[in-house]
Amino acid sequence: MSPADRRAGEILVVSREEVAGLLTPAACLERCLETFGWVGDGSVVQTNPVNLYVHDRSQPEPPFGHGVVQAFPAMIRPLERAVVKWLGSYRQNPRRNLPAISAIDLVTDTETGMPLALIDGTSVTNLRTGGHAGVGAKYLARPDSEVVAIIGCGNEGRTHLAMMRELFPLSRVIAFDIAPEQVERFATEVEASMGLPVEAASSVEAAAAEADIVCAVTTAPQPVLFSSWTRPGTHVCAATGFRDVDKACAREFDKWVVGWYGRDLEWIEGPEVGKIGGLQAGDLSRADIYADIATEIMPGVKPGRESAAERTIMTHMGMPALDCAVASLVYDLALQAGAGTWISVF
Ligand SMILES: NC(=O)c1ccc[n+]([C@@H]2O[C@H](COP(=O)([O-])OP(=O)(O)OC[C@H]3O[C@@H](n4cnc5c(N)ncnc54)[C@H](O)[C@@H]3O)[C@@H](O)[C@H]2O)c1
Repeated sequence: MSPADRRAGEILVVSREEVAGLLTPAACLERCLETFGWVGDGSVVQTNPVNLYVHDRSQPEPPFGHGVVQAFPAMIRPLERAVVKWLGSYRQNPRRNLPAISAIDLVTDTETGMPLALIDGTSVTNLRTGGHAGVGAKYLARPDSEVVAIIGCGNEGRTHLAMMRELFPLSRVIAFDIAPEQVERFATEVEASMGLPVEAASSVEAAAAEADIVCAVTTAPQPVLFSSWTRPGTHVCAATGFRDVDKACAREFDKWVVGWYGRDLEWIEGPEVGKIGGLQAGDLSRADIYADIATEIMPGVKPGRESAAERTIMTHMGMPALDCAVASLVYDLALQAGAGTWISVF
């Protein structure tokens, strides 16, 4: 069906397999860069996630982790789209053969208010989180970075590497995971799909020691990467805040950067402290942050990397605008390709 023929209430469902065929890392990275620009120039309306904490986080974790169900709403004016991501996160779900994170993106046309599409939000999350790391690395990592360490060889390990490969002349990938079979699968896939050799490291310390860029993307409940293990010139991409990276990095590195203050201050000194991001009240504050990408570094208010020896780290918790922008792109790509399944919901 062409969009012109659709009736109100008909929406396009785009599955995980279809997203994988439609959305390349390059296209996702480009869209993430555009999105940071829109956030910086005020073209985005987004709220912080609505967090429905299923379990009491001051209590020990239940067998499948402290569950949280979240809504991530955003509207991007230049795209005339609004999206809400509806996501469940149960860190230990893999123990019962379920994914730790699962999400659906609902895309709405802001001209008419009509729903347009339901997209597999897990693949969008995986790619846009790698894209977020890519945007940070573009401004903060050394342009000649050749060696990437992937700490945690899951979904994010794959998308982070794919984005770094778009940006840097990579020659080596060093991988560590607490589960050796994860490293093996990762290495097989990366060697086949990207033609990059992957070396298995014996520890996080050994992996970080030789890396220009370290991606910390684990489900570890406490820090596995420490400041003294990184060398001058290293950039760290930290997707879990300071859950799996030692918070001392914030002060010991030359520059601690966040994605966007509007989102990231929530888990650093706002209502999410003690719940996500690994910090407790008073650990760190805005005064410790060098800059954010969206409103300071990207618009040129503050420089990103200034010397080859600087150690830099970007921590973030993602932001709804990225889900909105990337899901919207997937919808457009699906329409162009004639992909997806139309369903009538009303
Ligand atoms: N900031 C964001 O916007 C954002 C978005 C998505 C995911 N995340 C976070 O990124 C992390 C990775 O997500 P994913 O989807 O790739 O998960 P995943 O389950 O696919 O992969 C996580 C990997 O970490 C490994 N791991 C666990 N403990 C470890 C340890 N102590 N040392 C080394 N490796 C260890 C696991 O074995 C697994 O291979 C999660 O913590 C998730 O919450 C952040």
